[in-house]
Amino acid sequence: MYKSELSVVVGGLSLEHPVMNASGILGYLPEHADIMASWGVSAIVSKTFTKEPRAGYNPPIVIKVRYYSLLNAVGLANPGIGGIRPFVERARGYGVPVVVSVGGGSIPEYVEVAGAAEDCGASAVELNLSCPNVERGGIELGRDPAQVLKVVRDVASVVRVPVVVKLGVSDRLVDSASKAVEGGARALTLINTVRGMSIDVYSFKPLLSNISGGLSGASIHPIAVWAVYTVFREVQADIIGVGGILTWRDAAELILAGAKAVQVGTALVYRGPGVVRSIVRGLRLWVRRVGARSITELPGAAHRV
Ligand SMILES: Cc1cc2nc3c(=O)[nH]c(=O)nc-3n(C[C@H](O)[C@H](O)[C@H](O)COP(=O)(O)O)c2cc1C
Repeated sequence: MYKSELSVVVGGLSLEHPVMNASGILGYLPEHADIMASWGVSAIVSKTFTKEPRAGYNPPIVIKVRYYSLLNAVGLANPGIGGIRPFVERARGYGVPVVVSVGGGSIPEYVEVAGAAEDCGASAVELNLSCPNVERGGIELGRDPAQVLKVVRDVASVVRVPVVVKLGVSDRLVDSASKAVEGGARALTLINTVRGMSIDVYSFKPLLSNISGGLSGASIHPIAVWAVYTVFREVQADIIGVGGILTWRDAAELILAGAKAVQVGTALVYRGPGVVRSIVRGLRLWVRRVGARSITELPGAAHRV
């Protein structure tokens, strides 16, 4: 009963329920996979791996800001391509799909890291297109629809596992989303963090060592709802909604806007490791309360009223 009510298929991945973790709160060491599995997620999503190891920025790299939100400028710290196998092998032991998040400074780098992820047994790759493209003056790849088409096409032509494309908000969001699908994306993950900053009023200094960073958590939830709603209306694609989900209601809103599945990040910091199970419980009751037989009846329902 539980399984059939909440099970979903998104981007070719069969999930027992729609709640996975968002990339990056944890997740490039094997022991992180153990912790992530203990949260009860329906798929384990790694932190973004790049080709070379990256040390990241100096602290402070993550700060709490008001209204259940975080500002982070981690600098994509990760062990590089060599870290993928130990992570995936451990994560696969938990019997849920393992999604490897892939980043890079150039299109060939995305292709290489995605290929390595597949070789290491990933169930899918999620291309984090919020990385600056060093070959194109540091412009975020996802903000340039022509580059989105190219990177997704190049990756999709070498890997057989589903390619999921994660985009941040930009004024080209719909164009980028539609180019991702044209290039072969099986699903879109919307959204990444939104740029922001915070200043200490006594030292007069920005609170992050990198000055600005990515805002996540409750502050960005309405932006995520808008992004999912807008892309769902314009582009035929499976959508994974992410951004500021603290409770099942926030997840339900993203589903009604058009998401088939959701990811939870910042809430793990504010509400602790039980938050995923609490969201899943709430969604199950919600599905019954609104008279649906399965959660699969609800994605995009806000467009039909
Ligand atoms: C500390 C931190 C690190 C993150 N690292 C990554 C990352 O490596 N790759 C990525 O695609 N997104 C990363 N994100 C973004 C999240 O996956 C997610 O898109 C964003 O935080 C919005 O969801 P939330 O409000 O539930 O946290 C990170 C977010 C945080 C807070």
